[in-house]
Amino acid sequence: MKITGKTQLLGIIGYPVEHSLSPLMHNAAIAALGVDYVYVPFEVEPDNLSTAMAGLRVLGIKGFNITIPHKSAILPLLDKISPEAELCGAVNTVCRERDLFVGYNTDGTGLLKSLKEDLCFEPSGSTVLMLGAGGAARGALASLCAAGVSRVIIANRTQEKGANLVDIFRDKFEKVDFHLSSLDMKQLQGHLKEADLLLNTTSVGMNGSSFPDLDLSSLTAKAAVYDMVYSPPETPLLAAAKKNGNACANGSGMLAAQGEAAFSIWTGIDLPVGLMKNILVKGLVQ
Ligand code: ATR
Repeated sequence: MKITGKTQLLGIIGYPVEHSLSPLMHNAAIAALGVDYVYVPFEVEPDNLSTAMAGLRVLGIKGFNITIPHKSAILPLLDKISPEAELCGAVNTVCRERDLFVGYNTDGTGLLKSLKEDLCFEPSGSTVLMLGAGGAARGALASLCAAGVSRVIIANRTQEKGANLVDIFRDKFEKVDFHLSSLDMKQLQGHLKEADLLLNTTSVGMNGSSFPDLDLSSLTAKAAVYDMVYSPPETPLLAAAKKNGNACANGSGMLAAQGEAAFSIWTGIDLPVGLMKNILVKGLVQ
């Protein structure tokens, strides 16, 4: 990679940011295409977010990703926000358009693309059993509702958070049937029976954690299981799905697809199919 006076700057802000795989993914894509960009990680403490934004503006950055904990905090600091990002209540991609910082959310697009490519799952008319009700769940719900799911069961440890999520979405998606559940396996069994997709949006599965008393035997054979966690590549949830004979995938496809969508917003270039996913899978096993 040759950096010159004309090289355009891309990056990611987060705290911490050192574990992010986005610099690897984007710089490898930049090198593969031979385009004149560089993608840099910036560690920004929460109290410094607005100062960092002012700095990025005057430095003329072309675009950047936003990761934990800034995805919602950045909203008031932007000039314009896409309708998808508004609905998600979070921005993961900013693009400088003329002199405006415009916020997008490509996580939802990434999820839908990965569901289609990795599981051949079409949301339209389906029933989704979603585990979790945090930021990732909200983004997933926004894209799934927009894609025409019929019924969503939100199962969360803290019931009020699930109820808050339903309050946000019920008015906007009147045709979707929302239902709340706990994570209790006895209660979940009935919902597993009706699910076309079981989707984990929580962090459970990382660092060896797992859902207690996990039993997927009530899932029908045609149900698919998606875990947004990608490290480890096979979480206990995915191992149970595999054992039960269900199609399943981890979140690496979503991570790659949200990156592809962000890259396209900044550069106007649609990356070759599979480029980022291959880079990522190699990066994850190293
Ligand atoms: P993110 O932006 O990654 O979604 P978040 O907004 O903090 O992060 O949400 C984390 C989600 O994972 C929540 O649904 C959380 O459940 P609570 O609402 O009860 O906190 C869920 N979660 C995290 N750790 C969990 C655990 N050990 N068991 C069950 N759910 C867990």
